[in-house]
Amino acid sequence: MVTSLLKQVSFFKDLSNGDIRKIFSIAGIKIYAPGQMVFAKEDLGNNFFIVKTGRIKIFTTVGGGKKKTFAYLKKGDFFGEMSLLGGRVRSASAQAMEESELFVISRKNFKRLICENPDFSLKLLHTLADRLHKANKEVESMLFHNILGRLAEAILELSKDKHTKPVKMAIDQNELAQYLGTTRVPVCRAINTLKRGGIIDYRRGELVILNQARLQSMAGN
Ligand code: CMP
Repeated sequence: MVTSLLKQVSFFKDLSNGDIRKIFSIAGIKIYAPGQMVFAKEDLGNNFFIVKTGRIKIFTTVGGGKKKTFAYLKKGDFFGEMSLLGGRVRSASAQAMEESELFVISRKNFKRLICENPDFSLKLLHTLADRLHKANKEVESMLFHNILGRLAEAILELSKDKHTKPVKMAIDQNELAQYLGTTRVPVCRAINTLKRGGIIDYRRGELVILNQARLQSMAGN
């Protein structure tokens, strides 16, 4: 039952029932309250996590408290592999945005999974390649796009899994600013420019995409 439910979400979709059962047999489950930290940047990494339910923010904090959000992870996404595969300490912080249930797999069992389950390892590599691709695009965008282009790109990225017509998503301006690695004021100005251009609407934390094609061309897609 849980196996077939999990097969509907990205990470598990291509794994065999045997692989999924294997993950279950070695994973514990932990529940995090909204706002609770899963771990902080620079902590020693001992576990690998897969999101069962909820939403996890991956972010870094620099200097005097400036934050940059790298990703929002949802059901079926994983995190915590980098310190287990490489540098031992966490490269970023992870925090629950809402009540979230996580599968927790120890370092030893994670390594066994990689060695014994080629489909799991391939899936892991595939996701890491996607994340690197996205990070490269973001560097490109930071170097060559202005705040409007970067905001357009962020809106498209964050709304990727929303399928309403028109596309709607709930996000506050602070979250958008942290996703762009900037402060609220320039983001607020850029939102107003997009609103005046009839490209988006934004009220009380809800963003509606009114002109997807314009947004895509601003993002350079
Ligand atoms: P680790 O370094 O162990 O702890 C922080 C985790 O955040 C890291 O492993 C990855 O799983 C995850 N992470 C880091 N950067 C990104 C990113 N750009 N996109 C998605 N997840 C990331």
